[in-house]
Amino acid sequence: MNGSISINQARLSARLAELGAIGALPGGGVCRLALTDADKAGRQWLIDRMLDLGLEIAIDAIGNIRGVRAGRENGLPVMMGSHIDTVATGGVYDGNLGVLAGLEVIERLNECGVRTRRPLAVAAFTNEEGARFPPDMMGSGVAQGALDLAAMLSSKDDAGATVADELARIGFAGDAPPGAFDAAAFIELHIEQGPVLERAGIEIGAVSGVQGISWTEFTVSGQSNHAGTTPMAMRRDAGVVAARIALAARAVADELGPPQVATVGVFDLTPDLVNVVPAKARITVDLRNTDDDVLKQAEATVAAAAKEAAAAEGCSVEARSLARFAPVAFAPDAVAAVEASAKARGHSVMRLPSGAGHDAQMYAPNCPTGMIFVPSRDGLSHNIKEFTAPEQLEAGANVLLDVILQLAGAET
Ligand code: HGY
Ligand code: MN
Ligand code: MN
Repeated sequence: MNGSISINQARLSARLAELGAIGALPGGGVCRLALTDADKAGRQWLIDRMLDLGLEIAIDAIGNIRGVRAGRENGLPVMMGSHIDTVATGGVYDGNLGVLAGLEVIERLNECGVRTRRPLAVAAFTNEEGARFPPDMMGSGVAQGALDLAAMLSSKDDAGATVADELARIGFAGDAPPGAFDAAAFIELHIEQGPVLERAGIEIGAVSGVQGISWTEFTVSGQSNHAGTTPMAMRRDAGVVAARIALAARAVADELGPPQVATVGVFDLTPDLVNVVPAKARITVDLRNTDDDVLKQAEATVAAAAKEAAAAEGCSVEARSLARFAPVAFAPDAVAAVEASAKARGHSVMRLPSGAGHDAQMYAPNCPTGMIFVPSRDGLSHNIKEFTAPEQLEAGANVLLDVILQLAGAET
């Protein structure tokens, strides 16, 4: 069966464009932050596609959506999927490709009259990005018991709205309990979101695992004062402390070298005025590494630098963990199956770890799980210029089709 059926690339590209139009930004790209009205519209569009395919739809308590195609036998489904929420300046492929390629696989099997021994499922997990409500991989983490439902429902955005409020407001507080979306196996197709495949001239990534992720929010408290009259020795400048924490994070990545990365993505000052010494600063530090011990070392170095910078400036600093996930390895058989399908279809393939977090990392401890990467042009993602060529999308979705048929047992 391997390779004898292929997906309909034109339809997959058309569906990506259709979904990409929901929450489209005027200059290109998409903003469908989790649980906003745009996310609600995207969810409703997705459910209509699942209904068109005759899938049995369920929604769980954290708003994850799952469509199931019956197999000859009952039992846990072989699952595909990813997420359809985006960052505020996102592209049309991040997450959406994994969900829509899953639907395309099912549509092709329907067209070709192929049944499978096991049921098939496609899932769209809530708030994979964590950009509005930390942490990321929230929906899949709750679905697989890695994150506590009550704690996640109380997660707040910057305006103070909770996940619980927003799920209810958009009508996606489902009744399926956490654990209702367990899988016999899970394969996620995703864009690489980095430069590795493109630089190597490789078409398919057989993803070996996901690196560890650490998000910390530092809140620095100083004293607002007049920018002109306050002598430097008298200042308690929260902004300078935040800047020193940011430079310490960059210094850790420089000292440790690859694969260590460090990002200060949020940098808020209060009162944020040109002639006032900042009384308060809030920054976030995102640290990642494939080695958990080294990641812990990086976290400790930044935490010590924050304490030292605050003390030197007569400020106080509070650290709050927003997300912490250890590195994860995918099932060797799943990685090998991705490689074998790519080769059988004549595509170049290489193994690589994922720099980004993904829903698959939440399933990896509980069932055979793997990921397929396709290249990102110029290594860009979380950027409105995110792009993957149609033939690359097709290659990835065909490998997904093959691996899923292998795992689910194809029957004509
Ligand atoms: O942050 C991440 O790696 C993912 O995009 N949520
Ligand atoms: Mn993603
Ligand atoms: Mn993302």
